[in-house]
Amino acid sequence: MRHLLSTIGLERAQAIAILDLAEDMADVATRAVPKLPTLRGRTVANLFFEDSTRTRLSFEAAAKRLSADVITFSAKGSSVSKGESLKDTAQTIAAMGVDAVVLRHPASGAAQVLAESGWIDAAVVNAGDGTHQHPTQALLDAYTIRKTLHGAASRGRDLDGLRVTIVGDILHSRVARSNVWLLTALGAQVHLVGPRTLLPAGVESWPVTVGTDLDAAIDAHPDALMMLRVQQERMHAAFFPHEREYSTGWGLGDERFARLAADTMVMHPGPMNRGLEISASAADSPRSVVLDQVTNGVSIRMAVLYLVLSGADPREVAA
Ligand code: CP
Repeated sequence: MRHLLSTIGLERAQAIAILDLAEDMADVATRAVPKLPTLRGRTVANLFFEDSTRTRLSFEAAAKRLSADVITFSAKGSSVSKGESLKDTAQTIAAMGVDAVVLRHPASGAAQVLAESGWIDAAVVNAGDGTHQHPTQALLDAYTIRKTLHGAASRGRDLDGLRVTIVGDILHSRVARSNVWLLTALGAQVHLVGPRTLLPAGVESWPVTVGTDLDAAIDAHPDALMMLRVQQERMHAAFFPHEREYSTGWGLGDERFARLAADTMVMHPGPMNRGLEISASAADSPRSVVLDQVTNGVSIRMAVLYLVLSGADPREVAA
């Protein structure tokens, strides 16, 4: 695998193989066993033009647990404030000697441009581009669903027949877009729920069902309920219902959470707006896998860094 830019086009066998490789790396990711020498001598550059806690630190932990060196760039405090472009920033960092670039950028398509422009030779991993894609988030979400449902018997499994409901600000969510394509490639049935103003134009052509009624979606007893962050920083005021209207209609508040089936797992990619899209008691409940998602992100990112730096086909590595 040369780059990881999107979940669109990932085949079921490839996706299962990435999840299996992450499974093989989980003991190292969780520090149950010491770090591996696999990427010794390689350098991973984290280029973050947007804020991040989970993704940036998770990639850093993943690289270090495979013995790679890591250099980190945050646009804040950098020469981007003097007008330096993505091309010049990337080439400057590449000139210091990097093998892989992990890019988060506010522009949809930025990772693809960096990968295909020829500006740098390094492998490119998309760590979130605008409202477009966040492929490692979807991979860690799929891994978490599989692990929560199948535990030690997860290896080799897809998500055939599982029902995943994704709720909220679909319009601005790269997490939703990456999950739609990955989860359906793995055989899951995906249902999207949100206010009409936060459903993207053209969503009818996606391989999902779509609705606006969260209570009906909860009564349908999904295996996983994925609450999305309301991305007010990307939103025009006209799109956003009043906060109380939003939490009443589309938030997982205490009353709604009490009606949720006991075996429905509650997911959220983070960061959470507690009290808006999810209540504290739902976020902190035993049915919440939010922190498992964070933990699993390290092994997924180890697998992805290994694959892009080795150039291997995931199906051959996990075979
Ligand atoms: N889920 C996610 O991408 O979180 P961060 O913005 O903290 O990286």
